[in-house]
Parts: sequence; C-alpha cells; structure tokens
Amino acid sequence: MTVVVIGSINLDQLFSVNHAPKPGETLIADGLIEAAGGKGANQAVAAARNGMDVRFVGRVGDDGAGSGLRAGLDAAGVNTKHLLTDDTAPTGRAVIFVEPSGQNRIVVASGANAEVTLADVQPLINEMKQGDVLLATFESPLDTVEAAFKEARKQGITTVLNPAPARTHVSQDLLKLTDIIIPNEGEATALTGIDTVDAASTAESANALLRSGVKRVIITLAENGSYYADANGDQFATPAFNIKAVDSTGAGDTFIGAFLSRLGSDSVEDAIVYATAASGLAVSRQGGQPSIPQDSEVEKYLKEVL
Ligand code: RIB
Ligand code: NA
Repeated sequence: MTVVVIGSINLDQLFSVNHAPKPGETLIADGLIEAAGGKGANQAVAAARNGMDVRFVGRVGDDGAGSGLRAGLDAAGVNTKHLLTDDTAPTGRAVIFVEPSGQNRIVVASGANAEVTLADVQPLINEMKQGDVLLATFESPLDTVEAAFKEARKQGITTVLNPAPARTHVSQDLLKLTDIIIPNEGEATALTGIDTVDAASTAESANALLRSGVKRVIITLAENGSYYADANGDQFATPAFNIKAVDSTGAGDTFIGAFLSRLGSDSVEDAIVYATAASGLAVSRQGGQPSIPQDSEVEKYLKEVL
C-alpha cells in the first residue's frame, strides 16, 4: 500500500518558554531549536519511519531552508520526486512556543505551501492503484485538496483528511469525498460547531461528521487518547499511554502516519493502539520531525507496556 501525501513542509523554530508571551510582553526564551516540520511532511516521515511506501507532493521555495527540508525527507525514505521548487514563494516557516508542560502554540507562514495545484498532484494520482491512500491537511490549498480527492475517488483510492489547522465553513463536498477524517478536539469543534470537550460531545461531534458523509472518524484527544466511530456503527475510545510530555509538536502528525502504516495489516483497534504509542513517543521528545519514532522503537515500547 502506497500513501501519497499532499503536504505542507515548514522550517520550524521552536522556542522553549516558561509561558506564552502576553500582549506587549518581550520574553527571553530558555532555548531555541530549528527543526524540520510542516504537518504534511511530519505525517509523511511518520508513515515512512513505520515502514510505508510514501510519496510527497508539495512545494518549497528556491532557498536554503527548502533544500535542507528536501534532504531531510529523502533521508527519512520519503519519495520527493514530486516535491517542486517554487520560483517566487519562500519555503514555509513556523514559529512554535513550547511551554514546560509540552503544550505548544504555532504560527505558520505558508509561503510555497499555498501554491500547490491539482496539476502538481495529478501525475501522482495517475500512478496510484485502488486501495492506495491519499492524505492531505488544511495547510495545503483547500481547492487543490478537494479536486485531488475527487480524482482519487474515481480510482477507488482511500482519502484521508487531517483538517488542521482548524477551519470553519468547510465545503460539504470535501467531507463527502473523505473516507477517513482525523481531527483533534479543536478541529472537530470548528468543523461541526459542536463544542467538543468531553466524552458525550466528542461522540456527538463524530456522529455529525459521519452524517456529513465521512466513512470513518478518529478524534484525537491529546492526553485523553482518541475516539473512533464509523458508518457501520462501530465506536470505541482508546486511552493514551502515560508518557512524560516534553514537546507535543508533531504528536498528531505521528499518530496519523503511524496509523496509516498499520491500516492494511492490523485491525483498526490495533492500528490505533500502535499510533497512540508512536504519538506518545513523539510527545516525549523535542521538535516535530526529529521526535518521530521508527517502527522498531514503537514495537519495543508496546512490548514493554502491554
Ligand atoms: O503539527 C505540527 C506542525 O504544525 C509543525 O511542524 C509546524 O510546522 C506546523 O505545520
Ligand atoms: Na515532539
């Protein structure tokens, strides 16, 4: 099974801070690291490190950040033949504040990520087979994602949407074209208008997404694990593992890539437990891409705790 990721790719600057700056406040950080990020690129790396055949389509700028990020994806085993270099827009960047609890706050400047078109994606879709996976987030242009999902549906490709960052008023057509949607609580709230804050409202939110025509929903709930529901009426909650949080950056992305890597072989329950462990390991380390574990590490961890 191949996964094609229509993805964003950013250079992240992660500032360790005691608290997020208040209006008018100048804050001295406790530390700074620069690391590869971008939701799409993180998800691609997570899938590749967990054994999947991954092809990435996106755009970087014609700059040093872009060539460094490309090399990073190559090193992780992601196929970057369709990662284009934009002539004018710069490589995407993110500024991330990480608090001692591991909680983060992110601002993204999209740059070249905003220039990805259906024409960029189409050649890859043409090479895909029935049962392959097409994955996208809201860090790529929504009209491109919707047009690509439409093409994918014609070919029996499984479409997976991580609706992040949160958006309201998302096209109903896009939801109808989505096989699996994986939002966190905030993103589920934005999509459904249901304040997704506890078990009851999470189930309600998932049901609203199923009514929109999505076939399977996984709402990720940070330290509370996740909730799964599908159009056949199956539903279950999966708790998180007890791992000390250092930096939650890339945790949701790791969950998605790791989940997809097990989807073809495991039951959905087992794939979610596997993804939960992978994402917990990512939370225990700094940065987005640098924190994403390999399959051997996830398997070892699961042997220890289960
Ligand atoms: O999900 C984490 C990612 O969000 C970061 O790597 C940052 O680049 C933003 O895209
Ligand atoms: Na992390």
